[in-house]
Amino acid sequence: MKERPIVSEQEMLRQREYMQLVRSLEKRPRRYHIVSMGCQMNERDSESIAGMLEEMGMSREDVREQADLILYNTCCVRENAENKALGNVIWLKELKKTKPDLLICVGGCMTQEKGMAAMMKARYPFIDLVYGTHNLYRLPEYVYRVLTGGQPVVEVLDTDGEVVEGMPERRGTSFSTFVNIMYGCDNFCTYCIVPYVRGRERSREPEAVLMECARLRDAGAKEIMLLGQNVNSYRGGGAAFAELLYRIDRLGIERIRFMTSHPKDLSDELIHAFGELEHLMPQLHLPVQAGSDEVLKRMNRSYTSEHYVELVRKLRAVCPEIGLTSDIIVGFPGETLEQFEETLSLVRQVRFDAAYTFIYSPRKGTRAASMPDDTPYEVKSERIQRLIDVQQAISLEVLEAQVGRRERVLVEAVSTRDSLSVGGKTPRGHMVNFPGESSLIGRFADVEITSAGRNTLRGRQIKTEE
Ligand code: 5AD
Ligand code: SF4
Repeated sequence: MKERPIVSEQEMLRQREYMQLVRSLEKRPRRYHIVSMGCQMNERDSESIAGMLEEMGMSREDVREQADLILYNTCCVRENAENKALGNVIWLKELKKTKPDLLICVGGCMTQEKGMAAMMKARYPFIDLVYGTHNLYRLPEYVYRVLTGGQPVVEVLDTDGEVVEGMPERRGTSFSTFVNIMYGCDNFCTYCIVPYVRGRERSREPEAVLMECARLRDAGAKEIMLLGQNVNSYRGGGAAFAELLYRIDRLGIERIRFMTSHPKDLSDELIHAFGELEHLMPQLHLPVQAGSDEVLKRMNRSYTSEHYVELVRKLRAVCPEIGLTSDIIVGFPGETLEQFEETLSLVRQVRFDAAYTFIYSPRKGTRAASMPDDTPYEVKSERIQRLIDVQQAISLEVLEAQVGRRERVLVEAVSTRDSLSVGGKTPRGHMVNFPGESSLIGRFADVEITSAGRNTLRGRQIKTEE
């Protein structure tokens, strides 16, 4: 991966000036609402967006209809994500009739798709601002232009992307937080639109990542999730990802996790890190996508199912407790029943803790979109249901095997189902709910696992640590 130019400090200062200019306007939005769709990378971007909007003098509004500025941070990895984003945005047209000053902004992966911005400009003139993935850092300038020019601003850049440092941020929580380490993807899996909308792979400098992690640790971070479309391809300042991990481990943050990893780049050094590093949690998201070598080849995944299974064997040899999760696509163009059954048998063999399963969704501009696909949708639906059934039975067995164990849980929130319980994750990444007060949020609790549900565990607290 090449190292990419960094957006200059001068440019970032210029954007800071725009933030102040917006702040000084008399007629400007006061309350913002961000809808973040898709993956954690988008969630992290939304934290930067929130930071910029707050520097512009706005405060967060949880009720969308009450906000003066609504921003959609979109996803386009599958067609339904895109339809959801478009459906939501179209609905805003109605809201704008009752609130003419409402500012509607749309950015993220969907707007970066070829032709999408032009289509939005022509068909949805009520949208005030459309920007892409490569010019997010210019949001302050665009908001200023919309507010002072009285015209919609539609600007999406056709570049490979840069690294941006020093954007303001408003993080969700201080105890568990995301850190981007690289951006973009060069793998060009044939079904995937990400390389087209997120640009070429580019890494942050290790010093910048380490400084951010140390700063977050000092502000109370107990868990960090390192993010990248393909973290194993990290190459900042010549350092490989495993090297970066060893350095981050020494900072003493209690829990480190990362995602997403590509099996073809999972090095032995990285595998060994799971056996050696004190703070690296025994959890890995390692998307396999399919269990048939023929399908994997047409997906351009560059590994075989045998290689994948061997990686799993090595990981479990160094870290027997590791919890593996995966992404799986069903109904890739030309997938036969036999090939689908190879996916089922890989799933039975590997025994993932959990798997995110998707029916293949053709994405315009990708190579797979022009591959012949004669499997009817109903057949794909039946296949995914079979896969879900197999995986759910395995997930339940994995969770049931946790009953009776004592686990250290980082408490994240009050349970959604029961206001007298709180929930958090074990080192392996299992969600545990247990009776407890909200004052536990952000702290570790020792919990005995008492029962297993379909996706989560239940437990009871033993004692609380500071
Ligand atoms: N159709 C279905 N699933 C897809 N994914 C990516 N592109 C597609 C597509 N076109 C899935 C992959 C990836 C996850 C983030 O989304 O499994 O790992
Ligand atoms: Fe898409 Fe493949 Fe890159 Fe993942 S590794 S983002 S699936 S192209």
